[in-house]
Amino acid sequence: MAASANPPSARAWWKSAVVYQIYPISFFDSNGDGFGDLNGILAKLDYLKSLGVDVLWLSPIYRSPLADMGYDIADYREIDSRYGTLADWDRLIAGVHERGMKLMMDLVVNHTSDEHEWFVQSRSDKDTSRNPKRNWYIWRPPKYDAHGNRQPPNNWKSVFQGSAWDYDEQTQECYLHLYVSKQPDLNWDNSAVRNAVFDLMEWWINRGCDGFRMDVINIISKVDGLPDAPVADPKEQYQPASAFFANGPRVHQYIKEMNDRVLSRHDLITVGETPFTQNAQDLLPYVLPSRRELNMVFQFELMGIDSHIDPYGSDVPLIPKEWKLKNLKEVITRWQTFEREAGFWNAVFIENHDHSRSVSRFGNDSPEWRSLSAKLLSMLEITQSGTLYIYQGQEIGMKNAPPTWGLEEYKDVATINYWNSVLEKRKRESPGLDVDMSDVMDGIRRKARDHARTPMQWKDLPHAGFTSGTPWMRVNDDYQEWNVAAQLESRTSVWSFWKHALEIRKTYDVLIYGDFTLLSPEHEQVFAYTRVLGESIALVLLNFHHTPVQFSLDEVPHLIGAPFILGNYSPTDDREAATSIISLREYEGRVYIVKT
Ligand code: NOJ
Repeated sequence: MAASANPPSARAWWKSAVVYQIYPISFFDSNGDGFGDLNGILAKLDYLKSLGVDVLWLSPIYRSPLADMGYDIADYREIDSRYGTLADWDRLIAGVHERGMKLMMDLVVNHTSDEHEWFVQSRSDKDTSRNPKRNWYIWRPPKYDAHGNRQPPNNWKSVFQGSAWDYDEQTQECYLHLYVSKQPDLNWDNSAVRNAVFDLMEWWINRGCDGFRMDVINIISKVDGLPDAPVADPKEQYQPASAFFANGPRVHQYIKEMNDRVLSRHDLITVGETPFTQNAQDLLPYVLPSRRELNMVFQFELMGIDSHIDPYGSDVPLIPKEWKLKNLKEVITRWQTFEREAGFWNAVFIENHDHSRSVSRFGNDSPEWRSLSAKLLSMLEITQSGTLYIYQGQEIGMKNAPPTWGLEEYKDVATINYWNSVLEKRKRESPGLDVDMSDVMDGIRRKARDHARTPMQWKDLPHAGFTSGTPWMRVNDDYQEWNVAAQLESRTSVWSFWKHALEIRKTYDVLIYGDFTLLSPEHEQVFAYTRVLGESIALVLLNFHHTPVQFSLDEVPHLIGAPFILGNYSPTDDREAATSIISLREYEGRVYIVKT
């Protein structure tokens, strides 16, 4: 292995940190209006500290019409009144810092809300000599077809369905929005836009913020000329175009500039969200320390293993497919070993607000196996190298909403738009006939983003103790049994397991910094690997199946006798050292660690 100036074993606080993602609207409502809020988060800081959390990441809390649940920001320097005030934020950050924790904000700067003052000004006049904000967004004249019908400037499809362009009557041009119409894309080629973004970052840092999660940061630079995308589906008017906006021509120039101007001047944690990327090499420049861009990125290969893939290689989450342990092993192994000697550092996550619950996807959420498999997934997470991210509710094994819920319970614009677009297409293709949408509903029941957005289950009280009012979104039906209060009292709960598992991770550096080697790649039900750091070796065995299995240590005979450190069955029994053949029960995971 080549020597490196930045080996992954080089220590940093943000590498060993446990980050907990809060989806504020669904976390805890302190004032009974049905929306979670900042004072609700403040009230739960001791809870988070006792779990072992070091850093909080708040999904957006800025003023927003919530066209995309706050990922459409109308004012970067105001808190949305549903969540509280800037004074509440100041109290929150003080509470976070008093407890020795840190806080990251969500930086959503590929686009704003159409209600942001910048866009209101931008759309007010197309004459750039009078309107200095016109070029802050991406405006183009419409096209006209042979019949004189107005068409968008190109054929790009928005990520959330339909054309990526909207026509503005007043100035008779179209603006680009890669997400919904109410999320116009900023023009990063304009230095005034970049300056404004860097200013607002400084503004939050001066207020006390400790870092940023950067929303779709790899799509800020679009291919010059905005050419049409190739036609992937001739029956569709608009075509997937991520090849023209993901990891675009000047993205690294802009992130480097951000680093020079802002990030390098502070001791921050930074993670870029980088979807639409099939080639791992394309993510290297964002994170190689020598490049001075970001600490790490969220790559989505694992999140895609149970999704249909479109002709461009991007996953379509609402068209599910069965995942295979073989793929999960391949993807995790690739990222655990990817360019480590060059200093690549991972962000380890299996849940966030854009994906269904991990115990329902990768575990087994039936009553018999839910708790064990949620703990198994916890072991998968805490034994990987990288900064660890936990999503709210994951620590108590929250699962998907019940399959009996109808479409009316789903709130997410991505889901609703997807449903409507498939419905329209099928009606167009079979006019006058009944349309069967059961496959689409099945996809939604398994994979919709809303599964992660149901309110946090705190107690066996109405609405799970999340609110004393009417919750903005229905609480999962299982809250009487599956809630924080019940799990805090039980030594065998998923919560107690996570707390212990995080202590183990922090005790054994090998779990955070060690080198990863996959064992028995072909094994059909056990994911086995070692982690090595100096004289420490960890052996991790995870049985991903509801049948028992035996695993032989033939490949690693030197680990026979390694002491047992962590397991998801009884906290006290079965602690014997590793034997040459290890019997694993249903969904059993075991970690052994030895110092040679
Ligand atoms: C990624 C965010 O995580 C998601 O929730 C949002 O819809 C899109 N970016 C657009 O901002």
